[in-house]
Amino acid sequence: MKVYARITGTGSYLPEQRLTNQDMVERLAARNIETSDDWIVERTGIRSRHFAHPDSSSSDLAFQACRRALAAAGRKAADVDLIVVATSTPDMVFPSTASILQHKLTLAALADGEERGAAGCPAFDVQAVCTGFIYALTVADAMIKTGAARCALVVGAEVFSRILDFNDRTTCVLFGDGAGAVVLEATEHEGHGSGILAAEIHADGKHREILCTPGTVSGGQVLGDPTLKMDGPAVFKLAVGLLDAAARGAVEKAGLTLDDVDWLVPHQANIRIMQSTAKKLKLTDDRVIVTVHDHGNTSAASIPLALDQAVHDGRIQQGQNVLLEGVGGGFTWGAVMVRM
Ligand code: ACO
Repeated sequence: MKVYARITGTGSYLPEQRLTNQDMVERLAARNIETSDDWIVERTGIRSRHFAHPDSSSSDLAFQACRRALAAAGRKAADVDLIVVATSTPDMVFPSTASILQHKLTLAALADGEERGAAGCPAFDVQAVCTGFIYALTVADAMIKTGAARCALVVGAEVFSRILDFNDRTTCVLFGDGAGAVVLEATEHEGHGSGILAAEIHADGKHREILCTPGTVSGGQVLGDPTLKMDGPAVFKLAVGLLDAAARGAVEKAGLTLDDVDWLVPHQANIRIMQSTAKKLKLTDDRVIVTVHDHGNTSAASIPLALDQAVHDGRIQQGQNVLLEGVGGGFTWGAVMVRM
């Protein structure tokens, strides 16, 4: 018998405030900066994004996504024995967003009349920017396979609106806030079962400067610029090749071929990156889940948000092979091949 980590429930959450490209045009015009719906749609595919209320943090968005994922899996907070949160916009320097999330889940469980919540289980953050969810899923999968956990909450949650420079039109129109979560549970099968079939993650710090938020906290002050910086064309060039290699690596490790892939759920950075990657992999557009037009780039939240949308609208079905892939600051990249 082999242990697999199976996705038994998905959930996601988008903040209420939705900004269309026209809203961004007006917001930037107030700073004498020009942009247009046409430019944003043509270069990125984005039509709108969601921004969280100033009082709301990554753990708040994660909490909503986790409650939905737990409900979908038919699980309670007390069943969870591992929480991994991927975020680059944590609530605080420390404690981890995962610890804060764990407490919120516990309080909610107790308020619902349950005997206990998720308190006591390990909870930690993973930081791999837009590849964060792929990293988090890979770590949770490994822990389930070794018997260290049996029921994990794996979450991507971001409030990127907090780190955008609204004087930089090349970046501020690209990102949004949101959260997505999956419940990952141990199951035992003979031979090929459902669950995570293969995963691979990579990093190369030599590209750290083409996509970064370089500010830091020191001596009670923020030192350096705490807003997102990106060399868009350099990121674009690097991203397509890395995604292609990671996707092929995960498919091969799983003992499958690209023809076996029912769905590609890529990191939702930009429609052109997604189309270029799918084309290289010879996957037709009708096999690619795209949400970037509605959500913008929500960094670590983008893959679980897209996955949840496609599970709930019925496109992704039990037994199908789904290839998740991501690339982001670091540079980091990776892919996970999962049978639903
Ligand atoms: N509105 C209007 N014009 C703009 C805007 C804007 N919001 N932003 C840039 N421009 C202008 C530039 O100033 C430039 O004008 P110029 O020619 O007069 O100097 C022109 O548009 C072209 O600029 P480029 O940066 O060359 O535009 P490009 O076609 O490369 O598109 C983009 C920029 C969309 C960022 C592209 O490089 C890209 O998709 N990069 C990938 C990066 C990405 O998606 N990152 C997401 C985060 S990373 C990740 O998740 C992996």
